[in-house]
Amino acid sequence: MLAYRHQFHAGNFADVFKHSLLTRLLILLARKNKPFWYLDTHAGIGLYDLSHPWARRLAEYEDGIERLWKRKDIPQLFAPYMEAVRAENPDGKLRFYPGSPRIARRFLRPADREVLTELNKDDFATLKELFEGDRQVLAHHIDGYQGLKAYLPPTERRGLVLVDSSFDRAGEFARLTEGLAEGHRRWATGVYALWYPLMEPSAMHAFERGVLATGIRKILQLELSVLPEGWTVSLRGCGLLVVNPPFGFDAEAKPMLEWLRPVLSEAGEGGMRIRWLVGEGEGS
Ligand SMILES: C[S@@+](CC[C@H](N)C(=O)[O-])C[C@H]1O[C@@H](n2cnc3c(N)ncnc32)[C@H](O)[C@@H]1O
Repeated sequence: MLAYRHQFHAGNFADVFKHSLLTRLLILLARKNKPFWYLDTHAGIGLYDLSHPWARRLAEYEDGIERLWKRKDIPQLFAPYMEAVRAENPDGKLRFYPGSPRIARRFLRPADREVLTELNKDDFATLKELFEGDRQVLAHHIDGYQGLKAYLPPTERRGLVLVDSSFDRAGEFARLTEGLAEGHRRWATGVYALWYPLMEPSAMHAFERGVLATGIRKILQLELSVLPEGWTVSLRGCGLLVVNPPFGFDAEAKPMLEWLRPVLSEAGEGGMRIRWLVGEGEGS
């Protein structure tokens, strides 16, 4: 039994960060004529009711998607993301929030495919029902890290893997790094987007050292924090490592983070970072 339920956190600042960047990755992948494949290793339930008592309990979406929802000055780079949220709320009131599987589905063309893995039994059942009858989406009730071994490389030979772990077990940074290494061994040209929470500096340095030690190149690192460094009461910030980002992604991501930071960070306490953890030509 897994304790983490994303329903408590849906639409929070971390979701806004991850999902708005995810839309750009998918749009850039869809620019080429050839089909792509999308794997979501930690899929969740796919669609969240923000009026559900679990979502209401912490009301994290109030400091996340709701802040964007209320604004009239959303930059164009966020338009596809906001359209994905708006599509779930046709009456103009923010009640439903799409998870990554639902957002990604909007960007599939007829020949593209989506594979979802979710380990929580109840969440998997909800997810499966959401995509029932959709021939482009396959959901599996297995460990996402096993999925990286089982489903890679895809026949399409191009696409994106999102690893969005709930980080509710010790040793998850190491598991994430090993998962990336496993996936990359099987499919070196795939795009990988790995979400992670910002923790104490020693944990973050160890994570970066571990990733560098894999020898994998072309890794873009994006981070956004909304609370001051040293804050430990709740999630203070998060990051995304993007391996093999499609051309142009880094140029889009920078202004997006610059805009998001003051919108999502109360009293301007947070920060942002975008850099190549490893460039194309560098090795470890
Ligand atoms: C952060 S949530 C995912 C949110 C989703 N990716 C989204 O953006 O809408 C993490 C999910 O991973 C699931 N999970 C935890 N450990 C897992 C594992 N080893 N394999 C697959 N799913 C797992 C949890 O049940 C939870 O639903």
